[in-house]
Amino acid sequence: MKNFLYIIVAIVAVVALVWAFCGKSNASQNRTLIAYFSATGNTAGVAQKLASATGADLFAIQPVAAYTAEDLDWQNDKSRTSVEMSDRRTRPEIASRVENMEQYDVIFLGFPIWWGREPSIIDTFLESYDFTGKIIVPFATSGGTPTTADAADSIRQIVAASGTSVPTGKRFPTNVSADELKSWASEWLK
Ligand SMILES: Cc1cc2nc3c(=O)[nH]c(=O)nc-3n(C[C@H](O)[C@H](O)[C@H](O)COP(=O)(O)O)c2cc1C
Repeated sequence: MKNFLYIIVAIVAVVALVWAFCGKSNASQNRTLIAYFSATGNTAGVAQKLASATGADLFAIQPVAAYTAEDLDWQNDKSRTSVEMSDRRTRPEIASRVENMEQYDVIFLGFPIWWGREPSIIDTFLESYDFTGKIIVPFATSGGTPTTADAADSIRQIVAASGTSVPTGKRFPTNVSADELKSWASEWLK
C-alpha cells in the first residue's frame, strides 16, 4: 500500500513538472519576427540591431541565386535587378522558409529600397504565407529615398485579400541607434 502511494505521488510530481515546463515554454514563445532581405548588408545591420533591441526572432530572406554586383547595377537596364523590377510579376525564388509563421503576430519586414519600392523577392515572401490577422511593419534602408510609403502601398496590395494590417513603416539610416529602433518598434510590441 505504501509503495502504491509512492508511485502515485511520483506520477503526480512528473505530470506537474511536465505541465509547468510546457506552460513556461509556450509563454516564452516569441510572438514577433524580424524578416529581412539585404543584398549588400545595410538592411541586415539594421535588422540585427532591431533584433537585439527587441528580443524578436530574426529570419534572413535569402535568394536561391545570390545577387552579384553585376546583378545590382541599377544603371544597366539589362541587369538582373533592372529586369526583375521592371516586371511587377517577378518572384525570385527564396532559399528557405519560416516554418513556424503561425506563431507570430507581428512581422517587421526589412529590405533595401529598390526603384522606390520593395525588391521583388519581398513579394515572393509575402505570397509564401498566410498573414491573416497579423501585422506587417515595413522598414528599409536606402540611398536617399526618405520613406517606405510606396513600398507599404505595394505590400498592402499583395496581402489585401488576407486583411493583413500594414502600417507605413520607416526608412532608417544605417547608423540608427538601438534605442531609436526600440522606441519606434514599441508601438507594435506587446
Ligand atoms: C537595384 C537597386 C535599386 C536601388 N534603388 C534605390 C532607390 O530607388 N532609392 C534609393 O534611395 N536607393 C536605392 N538603392 C540603394 C539601396 O536602397 C541602398 O544601398 C540600401 O541601403 C542597400 O541595402 P542592402 O545593403 O541591405 O542591400 C538601390 C540599390 C539597388 C541595388
